[in-house]
Amino acid sequence: MDPHVFVLFGATGDLAALKLFPALYRVSQRDGAPPPAVIGVGRSDWDDTTLQDAAVDALTEADVDEGEAREWAESALRYARVEAYDQLGPVFETAEALEAERGLDGNRVYYLALPPSTFPGTITALGEYEEDRGTVGEHVPDDAPWVRLVIEKPFGHDLASAQELNRIVHEHFPENAVYRIDHFLGKETVQNLLVFRFANAFFESAWSRRDVERVEITVAETNDAAGRAGYFDGVGTMRDMIQNHLTQLFSLTAMEPPARLDAEGIRREKIKVLRSTRTARSNETVLGQYGPGAGHDEGYRDHEGVPEDSRTDTFAAVRLHLDNWRWQGVPFVLRTGKRMAERLTEIAVVFRRPPITLFQASGGCDPERNVLRLRLQPNEGFTLSFDVKTPGDGFGVSTRELSFRYEDTFGPFPDAYETLLRDVAEGDPTLFVHAEEAEEAWRIYHAVLDNTDIEVHPYESGGWGPDAAGRLVEAPPPEESGEP
Ligand code: BG6
Repeated sequence: MDPHVFVLFGATGDLAALKLFPALYRVSQRDGAPPPAVIGVGRSDWDDTTLQDAAVDALTEADVDEGEAREWAESALRYARVEAYDQLGPVFETAEALEAERGLDGNRVYYLALPPSTFPGTITALGEYEEDRGTVGEHVPDDAPWVRLVIEKPFGHDLASAQELNRIVHEHFPENAVYRIDHFLGKETVQNLLVFRFANAFFESAWSRRDVERVEITVAETNDAAGRAGYFDGVGTMRDMIQNHLTQLFSLTAMEPPARLDAEGIRREKIKVLRSTRTARSNETVLGQYGPGAGHDEGYRDHEGVPEDSRTDTFAAVRLHLDNWRWQGVPFVLRTGKRMAERLTEIAVVFRRPPITLFQASGGCDPERNVLRLRLQPNEGFTLSFDVKTPGDGFGVSTRELSFRYEDTFGPFPDAYETLLRDVAEGDPTLFVHAEEAEEAWRIYHAVLDNTDIEVHPYESGGWGPDAAGRLVEAPPPEESGEP
């Protein structure tokens, strides 16, 4: 990990306090990590001390000892105040001064945890400055310092805006300097999908249309959108969760084995999955919005800042179809919602029943489908249901489970942001979203975003979302000859 300055745009925001300061702290505690040099950037009238105090609060919240947190914050953090995010003079001055003071070579990470409306201006200002510094552009000398640009989600609002944002990014930065964040990719259990699939020949050989009837990807959340209306009401669940987090889970589940386990190998296979996926259709998309329920007096429309006729989806389910050799005819149902009964992220692979029902004829009963459930959070692990003979006369069949829980074997996981920030510092883009991936993911949903023909079903807080979503799982897949 080379010494570098980490410039955090949006240092006064929630993400910084909740995730980024704790992750920066933990990365800097790893063996071989250089002393941290972080510049927090914001428009608020803060100074170094205000920023350091905020970071100490954030770290103690994350169970770091207060004395250690203060020592870290005081040595690591400087604040640069800007009037606007495209006027970055104070940022560059602070960075240059810090580099001179510490004898650093000029390597920098720019991390944009900012409102997306500011991305184009900030990226352009950074790009022009870096071109002057000779770190990006036509003729970059081999010994030039490195620069990495990290962009938080949402990356665009739809296909056209993502293409435009990529154009602006690529005007200045080469793709290998760009790290688009989807924090689900930093989760250990999401990465375990690759190990689970490609280290266990047993599962991989059953991982196709021959044996799999359908796949259900579920992210149920108990949290809500209260206090976030400013962001959430213009976005909704299709954009906030489905287009990014669930689509990442989908492509990791459906992808072919990569030629190599590196950024190029993995991202190439994920892009192939997205390219083979048909555009989602309105008659296979179910949207919902929570009302009151389960002890909540307020529904979504009662939150401060939400218009009383808001159509914003707090639940979304969509059935996807792939046109490729492995998955032709196997539906993938993606669903997620807020204020659900339970917090649960899982991928359920539902296998086909045996072709003949041997046991019913001899006085027994039909076997159940085998279901493999990969639990990504909480209670990380997996279960596989299978049928056994019920002891006694005849062929009674009972369903039982094999299970594995991470917690029983391994210690706690690093937080997703710690993994991702370490990878940025080490220059490994494997767990980040490629330009083409971001665009293809928007392409899949372009016909169902902002589509007012799709009804937004009210659902009760504390349940499992609108009933209509259940039908996406139960209904047989539609005719193969659907819209492309
Ligand atoms: C964020 C979304 O990207 O992911 C939130 O904006 C969502 O709405 C969150 O709650 C879920 O992440 P995690 O890591 O808590 O499962």
